[in-house]
Amino acid sequence: MTNDTLYRLHPATVAEALVNKWVAWSNTVPPVAGSLHLKNFQLKLLESYLKDPKVHLDACKNPKYRAGPFVDIPIERMQEVADLLAFTQTAQRKSLELATEIKDFQSYLVQEAKGQSLDPYYQKVPPGLQGFVELAYDYFNRPMVRFFESLLYEAGYYDRTLQSLRFSKQPNHASRSFIMSTPRLPSPEAIEWTVAFDDPRVDELFRLDAAPKPLGAIRELLGLEAGADARLLPLLSEQTAAAPDRWDGESVRVRYFGHACALVEWSGNAVLMDPYIGVEVGEGDVGHYSYEHLPPKLDYVVITHSHHDHFSIESLLRIRHKTDTLVVPRTCGVLAGDPSLKLLARKIGFKKVIELDALESLPLENGEIVSIPFLGEHADLLYSKSAYVVRAGRERILFAADSDCLDQKLFDNIRAILGPIETVFLGMECVGAPLSWTSGAFFPARPDPRLDKTRRYKGADSARGLRILEALRTKRIYNYAMGLEPWLEHLLGLAYTEDSTQLSESRKFIASAKERGMEAQLLFGKHELFLEPGR
Ligand SMILES: [Fe+2]
Ligand SMILES: [Fe+2]
Repeated sequence: MTNDTLYRLHPATVAEALVNKWVAWSNTVPPVAGSLHLKNFQLKLLESYLKDPKVHLDACKNPKYRAGPFVDIPIERMQEVADLLAFTQTAQRKSLELATEIKDFQSYLVQEAKGQSLDPYYQKVPPGLQGFVELAYDYFNRPMVRFFESLLYEAGYYDRTLQSLRFSKQPNHASRSFIMSTPRLPSPEAIEWTVAFDDPRVDELFRLDAAPKPLGAIRELLGLEAGADARLLPLLSEQTAAAPDRWDGESVRVRYFGHACALVEWSGNAVLMDPYIGVEVGEGDVGHYSYEHLPPKLDYVVITHSHHDHFSIESLLRIRHKTDTLVVPRTCGVLAGDPSLKLLARKIGFKKVIELDALESLPLENGEIVSIPFLGEHADLLYSKSAYVVRAGRERILFAADSDCLDQKLFDNIRAILGPIETVFLGMECVGAPLSWTSGAFFPARPDPRLDKTRRYKGADSARGLRILEALRTKRIYNYAMGLEPWLEHLLGLAYTEDSTQLSESRKFIASAKERGMEAQLLFGKHELFLEPGR
């Protein structure tokens, strides 16, 4: 090592985006969803851990509870959890008050408003919500509160000073605790950089693959003293990154990066779907593409829905310097737990964010991206979500993510409007988590356990998946978005075994598709395919 040695981030270094030590995702950043999740999930979880940490730690040892509400922090560090709880109560006091006001006022309004004019109830809006809400009825005289989310972002409920990036080197993919349940405490091997997500220095740091820097410059960027070099150096690498690979061949190239992340390139376009990208942990890793395999420029990064395995703030920040435009589903703007992804993306530093509604299209050279409806996956709650048809020349490729075929007619309609869709990427997580998993914090009371079990975040099973393919007259089916790759563990904790329903349905789906003459494959880790585009 000399003073001229240039460094980039080590391929095994992850940069977790945090809000007050918790991993940032769509339930922790936006003001309304974030306040409710903070009060009704995170604080309750910490209190429960402090009451009986052993129960939490025992549960964390059982793979079945990997994605459950259990804090994975050793008992010796209990005091740090107590300190985090106390700090949160002060630092996020305004958000906690907002959560109380939202719950109390919504409950009051439901009791009081039975169809009479809502005008007088504006006088009853609690102080923290005044000027931030509209009161309305549906046609059955059920009252609702609509939040002006953009105004709330500017009113002290969104605190950039609580944001940070935590760098740590992963010995293996399983080394991260489940993101929703375990806050990230300081560690001697990790470096936490207190920086707002929208800070341009974040882009400077993540450009290191293409533009490595001397140690001193990186240290200065992170605001570290020279004494921190012993911690910083293991997180960096002197090895140059693979040369960025921009496809300029005649055909359409699709590269699968794992889970729901796929890169489509043709006619000079580069479109990345649902980026969640695993770092490379070295020995024993599953072969896969990582950040260094992305092209230097992404024309569009496209998001299907707000679940943390599809809208990953960690990956989005890391690739922000490569893209001008993020494409997100149009917000429904009705439920407190359904934040606008457009506002959220802007707040985390994306300059250009486009919302696409069903059948709206973004024109590209020799192609387009068309948004289509996305049924299912949200436990019958109204959430912002889109599937997308990427048209590359004459090829149409559907990225359906966790779509379910709740109504085959929808797909008949899509075919009638857009034509047959030759290539389909579809998930088959047909078991799913119960309603309360990501939305429990938004309900006024814990959902009835009997209902909770029946309403699930689930996608298509084999029979419903086949109906989609038949309706669309598909020729090629790729089963993806299964959470199979080990770098999804800390996000989904699915703990599959060979006889898991999702995997047996996937096998049935692939076999039935093949019987019908389709090419069919379950994707895992890494895949590359080429399609002939035509014009
Ligand atoms: Fe999902
Ligand atoms: Fe998913």
